[in-house]
Amino acid sequence: MPQLQSRSLRVHADTLEYLDQTQLPQAEKWVPCDSPEAWQGAVKNLAIRGAPLIGLSAAFVLAQFAASHPEHDWQQVSDRLRATRPTAVNLMYCLDAMEACFEQGANALAERAAALFAEDRALCQRMAERGADLLKTGDRVLTHCNTGALATAGVGTAIGALAVAKQRGVELHVFVDETRPLLQGGRLTAWEMADLGIPYQLITDSMAASLMAAGKVDKVMVGADRICANGDFANKVGTYMLAVVAHYHQVPFYVVAPYTTVDPACATGAEIPIEQRDPAEIRGAAGAFGEVVWAPSDAPVWNPAFDVTPASLVTAWILDTGVFDAAAIARGEHCQGRGVAASKCWRTT
Ligand code: MRU
Repeated sequence: MPQLQSRSLRVHADTLEYLDQTQLPQAEKWVPCDSPEAWQGAVKNLAIRGAPLIGLSAAFVLAQFAASHPEHDWQQVSDRLRATRPTAVNLMYCLDAMEACFEQGANALAERAAALFAEDRALCQRMAERGADLLKTGDRVLTHCNTGALATAGVGTAIGALAVAKQRGVELHVFVDETRPLLQGGRLTAWEMADLGIPYQLITDSMAASLMAAGKVDKVMVGADRICANGDFANKVGTYMLAVVAHYHQVPFYVVAPYTTVDPACATGAEIPIEQRDPAEIRGAAGAFGEVVWAPSDAPVWNPAFDVTPASLVTAWILDTGVFDAAAIARGEHCQGRGVAASKCWRTT
């Protein structure tokens, strides 16, 4: 029996298992994660993914490493974990919290990781309820990437809002962007929608504009990997294009995230580091469904993992701490509770 469990993480006394998200929905495969190196590999290939889940799983890996390597330099391990996913600030938040416990020993680290897990579950519930308050029966909501229970310890962020609305009896229709290149929408969100019993239709990312032009989208709800002091935010590549299109068609555009995704030390989106990924992800696709390459094998590729949406395109930021409009963001209200101390993020500047 795991001591702690979410949709995609099982925490045992001295080991961790994750649901391999590269295999979904074709196969539900639980994989042991027994070292920082194994965790880094899983995060790099997106077997472990979603900003909150990445931070929480890093905390457990660090705690378990500390328990089995009491003499080792834990800081050095934490630094390596931190550098694995430079954009998602939840990773920095969790590792900052863990490092603050180093002097208290391995047991304190295990307790801290469990507390972070419990916190994320509670934050999900709070932001999801706030998001659900904005939804009404008949709403057609478009979402991008995957922001559900798979990506967090709890009910999720943007998908969490849809799930809570469903629990309240609000009848929605959801349009799911397939989310090229790694298909988190087509594989994971479609699977979660079916699991939640929410009617949905899958679209390719390039269909969102004509869907909005046809008046078929009432709201867009997405997650975030990092929200800056000025409200700019990074999320899965394609989010910015969606925000531009929503703005043009006057469709309300919401970002749903926990306060742990806010980085008050990051003034604007220009400071957010964005990793470039393997060209093979663009030249074809691979997963439990098989592997196909359609481009010339040496086709030059530009493959940023995330893009940055400027605050001017956002209708409201839905956090666990409140729903903030542009004026509240300009006053820095979304940063309250996060503290102003810069977390040790990897930065471009
Ligand atoms: O590369 P991924 O799949 O980890 O990207 C995930 C997203 O972009 C999510 O929207 C974000 O992490 C928020 S998840 C609750």
